[in-house]
Amino acid sequence: MTFLKDEVLSRRTFAIISHPDAGKTTLTEQLLLFGGAIRAAGTVKGKKSGKFATSDWMEIEKQRGISVTSSVMQFEYDGKRVNILDTPGHQDFSEDTYRTLMAVDSAVMIIDAAKGIEEQTLKLFKVCRMRGIPIFTFINKLDRQGKTPLELLAELEEVLGIESYPMNWPIGMGKEFLGIYDRFHNRIEQFRVEENERFIPLNEEGEIDGDSPIKQSGLYEQALEEILLLNEAGNEFSNERIANGTLTPVFFGSALTNFGVQTFLETYLQFAPSPQPRNSDAGIIDPTDENFSGFVFKIQANMNPAHRDRIAFVRICSGQFDRGMNVTLSRTGKSMKLSQSTQFLADDRSTVNTAVSGDIIGLYDTGTYQIGDTITSGKQLINYEKLPQFTPELFVKVSAKNVMKQKHFHKGVHQLVQEGAIQLYKTYRMEDYILGAVGQLQFEVFVHRMKNEYNSDVIMEPIGSKIARWIDEDQVKESLSSSRSLLVKDRFDKPLFLFENDFALRWFQDKNPDIRLTNPME
Ligand code: G4P
Repeated sequence: MTFLKDEVLSRRTFAIISHPDAGKTTLTEQLLLFGGAIRAAGTVKGKKSGKFATSDWMEIEKQRGISVTSSVMQFEYDGKRVNILDTPGHQDFSEDTYRTLMAVDSAVMIIDAAKGIEEQTLKLFKVCRMRGIPIFTFINKLDRQGKTPLELLAELEEVLGIESYPMNWPIGMGKEFLGIYDRFHNRIEQFRVEENERFIPLNEEGEIDGDSPIKQSGLYEQALEEILLLNEAGNEFSNERIANGTLTPVFFGSALTNFGVQTFLETYLQFAPSPQPRNSDAGIIDPTDENFSGFVFKIQANMNPAHRDRIAFVRICSGQFDRGMNVTLSRTGKSMKLSQSTQFLADDRSTVNTAVSGDIIGLYDTGTYQIGDTITSGKQLINYEKLPQFTPELFVKVSAKNVMKQKHFHKGVHQLVQEGAIQLYKTYRMEDYILGAVGQLQFEVFVHRMKNEYNSDVIMEPIGSKIARWIDEDQVKESLSSSRSLLVKDRFDKPLFLFENDFALRWFQDKNPDIRLTNPME
């Protein structure tokens, strides 16, 4: 029992939330280097699918088999075992990206100092906030000129609505970047100086004693003034508020030059939570509960027609996983032996023998699992809380190319929807099928799998991006449906409108003030 407890306490499981190009790959690589999980920079970089067009990505998938090598990366540092879950962006952005955030205990938000909060960061942030998980902010690219640190903090508050506590503060920026004033460790960390001179300790007043070249710079004076301002008028440090996600500790640095990354990692490990108890239909389950349990948060299909296997990603929520153990799938009550499991390190796929709460295991799946499924080794069957529905933004009309093959078509659509690969809507009278996705890739994967797994060629007619808003069933009025505000129902028969754009949404609201429009993600 103490073994399990110690193991669980050492786990830190997080995902990075950022907009493409903010530096996620670069930072991840630096972290893996610290952990010794990779030996050279550039290892993760090659996997960056954003560098490829989607068609190339498919080709790469085919050659590589399942591309999950960078889905979960694990390393050890300072006695902690860290799991980084990848949140694919670029063309790979999909509902899986959101769902991954259901499987982590904290998030690291990377912001490009020159760009501030960008669209994808905001979307991912909202999902983290929904869960109330701690968010640690790394403001990147200080080696380049960017917005001022005060502007960036103001943006955090205004755009994201989260208060911040700067753990450190930049001294200069861009060509004049001298380093960071580390409020937390009461020291200065100098940029681009020899390792043995990198840190300058500060006295009780928070200043440098004695001589130091950095003291000659006006930028040092400016940083001191700003720190004074923060001490007087800024937010107070609060462990509790960090833990409930209402205060984000902010770190400044430069991932590319590996500056401030180690300080970030060490402080992060100190404050980030180990796996927390989770809600289930049988009450709260403690991560140190001896029964193994976990839930499926992502299913990755193989794009290679010769290998139809899928991998179901399971976040362990309690107990210990042992290869060959027996578990029950709560949804079906079916029991099975978990002998084929796999865990992913930065570069090669290795078989996992033991894993505990906080870890992610990949199970070979031949169609057994659905997203959100719970498995447990205990006698009592439990179900973890349902994963939320994420509001899609892209829509297509879909139909079978061959009208004689309707059966295959319907079977395929329904199974893929059940599995959680894509969302399905129907128009009111004609019952036309409309598919909704968070990212374009989901459609491509859908077409591919329909053909390869269900032998069904489909016709996809894009209807563009839409804003989906649900309404109460007793407010359904078909006469309100138009091409600019299309009334449809989701797969649970709940009615919603698909608005052409913001303008159409506002116009509709003005005309129909009684209709309450809701977005489950807000
Ligand atoms: P992503 O995974 O979030 O999409 O970002 P990635 O790490 O690939 O970084 C995007 C670009 O920003 C890369 O440049 C990378 O080198 C650069 N970058 C990351 N961190 C820093 C930093 O701290 N300072 C500066 N100046 N640049 C940074 P690229 O030209 O797009 O790629 P590459 O050709 O250099 O690989």
